[in-house]
Amino acid sequence: MKGYKILIVEDDEKMNQGLLHVISKEGYAAQSVDCGEKALEEIKNIQFDLIISDFKLPGISGMELLKATKKYDVNILFVMITAYGTVDTAVSAMKQGAEDYILKPFDMEELRVVVKKNLEKRELFLNNLRLQQQLEKKYTFDNIIGTSEAMMRVFKTINTVKDSKTTILIQGETGTGKELVARAIHFNSDKASKPYLPVNCAALNENILASELFGHVKGAFTGAIANKAGLFEAANGGTIFLDEIGDIGPGLQQTFLRALENGEIQPVGSFERKTVSVRIIAATNKNLETKVEQGSFRQDLYYRLNVVMIDLPPLRERRGDIGILAHHFLKQYSTQNNKNIKRISKEAFQLLEHYDWPGNVRELENIIERATLFETSPEITPGSLPPVLTKPPAVSDHDLVSKDVKSLEQLSKKHIIKVLEMTAQNKTQASKLLGIDRSTLWRIMNRLNMN
Ligand SMILES: Nc1ncnc2c1ncn2[C@@H]1O[C@H](COP(=O)(O)OP(=O)(O)OP(=O)(O)O)[C@@H](O)[C@H]1O
Ligand SMILES: [Mg+2]
Repeated sequence: MKGYKILIVEDDEKMNQGLLHVISKEGYAAQSVDCGEKALEEIKNIQFDLIISDFKLPGISGMELLKATKKYDVNILFVMITAYGTVDTAVSAMKQGAEDYILKPFDMEELRVVVKKNLEKRELFLNNLRLQQQLEKKYTFDNIIGTSEAMMRVFKTINTVKDSKTTILIQGETGTGKELVARAIHFNSDKASKPYLPVNCAALNENILASELFGHVKGAFTGAIANKAGLFEAANGGTIFLDEIGDIGPGLQQTFLRALENGEIQPVGSFERKTVSVRIIAATNKNLETKVEQGSFRQDLYYRLNVVMIDLPPLRERRGDIGILAHHFLKQYSTQNNKNIKRISKEAFQLLEHYDWPGNVRELENIIERATLFETSPEITPGSLPPVLTKPPAVSDHDLVSKDVKSLEQLSKKHIIKVLEMTAQNKTQASKLLGIDRSTLWRIMNRLNMN
């Protein structure tokens, strides 16, 4: 909230200085003038965020100042101060575009709240706007969204390798976008008009997988009633995406190695070899290096696959991408479901930002899709988010028995700290999650020396 520029317009000297004092003390960059004419001069020199003006001024009135200000820059917020008993002036000020009004006499606390509330609202609006603009602009490759450094590196790698025949290994936890990246590479490459064939290596047993990939000859096994071409042949000139490559058994690993080394495949049951030209993109959510060390994945095959490695980091390690991704999905599902939800409330956004996302981008996508269905207001609020995000983290047995937590008090303290972290130190929200009211939370925190 700091650093906002606020202009005070008030002719009463004492009032002027009082307002200036209170606003400056809040950490805003405040200055004041004693009439509307001077205010209009000032807004041309300085980009103010907010104007607080008295309605009754010696020269032009507060209302005229409001109109001129909004005409000059509609983004400058305007709060009108009017005397008690002139509520209709306040109402017409709002009609003319003022964000808020304060009735005299008022206490300084009221002023602080009004200023803070309006600046926060604007910040949220600007953040949403900024994120929407980013979406429309450059931070995408195809439909892969991300502004984090890690994703920038991914975009760059895709661009560099897309047209080459190099084998690519994509590594990342579930839902980080491995398949999305594989498709982007193929469909942005010079092989885009050729086939792209995805194969899930984990879904089929080794024998069936071998025959699917390399084909078989008549009589190779029971049920092989005719020769059949495999996916490698079908994909000739294009791309095969070998998903979950870490799950293939030792026999197939050897066959793969040969296919990768000299582009030769051998249909099951045949002695004949065929040469194919296929680009391989492989993906794994397991750390292949560890599998190599454990002896369950061939080292030579690992080196063959890992000519270019694209590492997709989990979402919790690139939290900066959460906002832009959430807005991307919001736009998509809001349109799809005929809803007019354009924003994510501050509270909901904090929950999204602090969650750990074990299911990564897929989980975020599902949660936003669900929220657009359940939300009844024009913005996503915590109410439409699922309990995993809004409930405090469960206390694990480990916490209960760990060395540094012995008493119930210490446990409470640890739990409160966790919940406060989740809500970005928002005590109102934390107390809701804890199921107590705010003052009780304060009391407990005081008792535990947490303030
Ligand atoms: N950076 C991103 N931008 C936009 N959408 C994304 C991004 N990353 C993932 N997604 C979306 O998340 C979902 C999961 O992505 P994808 O299927 O590519 O993940 P995966 O890594 O292959 O997961 P798994 O290991 O479970 O197969 C898809 O709907 C995808 O469109
Ligand atoms: Mg996948």
